[in-house]
Parts: sequence; C-alpha cells; structure tokens
Amino acid sequence: MARKTLRDYIRTIPDFPHEGIMFRDVTTLFADPRGFRMCIDQLLHPFADQRIDKVVGLEARGFILGGAVAHQLSVGFVPIRKKGKLPAATLSQEYQLEYGSATMEVHDDAILEGERILIVDDLLATGGTAEAGIKLVERLGGVVTGCAFIVDLPDLGGRKRLEDMGMTVEALCA
Ligand code: PRP
Ligand code: ADE
Repeated sequence: MARKTLRDYIRTIPDFPHEGIMFRDVTTLFADPRGFRMCIDQLLHPFADQRIDKVVGLEARGFILGGAVAHQLSVGFVPIRKKGKLPAATLSQEYQLEYGSATMEVHDDAILEGERILIVDDLLATGGTAEAGIKLVERLGGVVTGCAFIVDLPDLGGRKRLEDMGMTVEALCA
C-alpha cells in the first residue's frame, strides 16, 4: 500500500459549521504522530534558511502549529486571538470570514520594530484572517517573511489576496 500523504490525514466534514461549508478538519492530522511531524517539517522547510525572529499563530489551530514550529526554530511564539481573549493592551483588526465577520487582536508589545515574522495557520480560505494577522504584525513594525498553511482552498481566493499584498504564501495541500 502507498505511504499516506499529508492530505490523507485530513478529513472533510460537510455542512460544518454551516450548510454548504466543506470543513477541512485537521484534528485527525494532529492526532497522528507521523502526520503531525510531517506537517511541522513541511511547514518549516521553505523558511529553513531565512532569519525568523518570531512565529505568529492565528487562533485557534494556528496555535498548535505555530507553537511546534517556533519550538523547532528555537524562536518565540506570539498568539493572534479573537477579540477579548488577550489580557494586556492590544491592537485590533476587523476582518470578514468565509462565514461571518470577526476581530483579531495582538498584544501591543508582542512584536518589536523590524522583527521578522512567520505567520502560521491551518487553512487559507478567503484570506481575511491572514490579512488581519499581517496587518497587525505590520502595525507593530514587524516584517512578515511569509505565511504558511497546511491547506489552501484556491477557489476562495486567499492566496491571490495575500500575494497581491506582496506576501510569500506556502501551503502544503489543497
Ligand atoms: C479558520 C481557519 C483560519 C480561517 C481561514 O478559522 O483556521 O484561521 O478560518 O479562513 P479565511 O481565510 O477565510 O479567513 P475559524 O475562523 O474557523 O476560527 P477557529 O480557528 O477559531 O475555529
Ligand atoms: N475556515 C474557513 N473555511 C474553512 C473550511 N472550509 N474548513 C476549515 N476551516 C475553514
């Protein structure tokens, strides 16, 4: 039998959280030791020879990935969270989702001027969440070296949206 690819570890749940959404559930990938290691190694690979000062993870699954990537790079990790979750002073950025709208926040002292930042999340759909993350990093003076995702849903236009902002976008599967 052929070896499983990363895509084989991800399951799709129809009509979650709303009718018509094909939800890519990466918890099955995270739960498998080989799948999870393969995923972290592959996320890091394009950035291996670049200077990265911090990894930013986007709530919620970006925390799981970003923590592992930051550990592997021996750099710090910064969470970007949904509104109202971070305890200290924050910057806020509104964004539109594939299903609804929301606000993301970052602690205003989490990133220093000129720091080189890798943004990590599980999935790129419309790109609204990642765009909000990029804007927050840049408003703090950080430089986004790239955005890394497990899944890119190309029909939803996120990659083009981020590339039009001048971003390097890496995704492991569609
Ligand atoms: C999902 C996913 C990304 C975002 C991508 O998170 O983990 O963060 O949607 O969509 P976009 O490219 O259209 O912005 P979700 O909003 O479901 O939040 P959660 O991780 O807190 O469940
Ligand atoms: N976030 C936005 N669209 C999604 C999808 N189809 N699967 C998982 N997360 C998502």
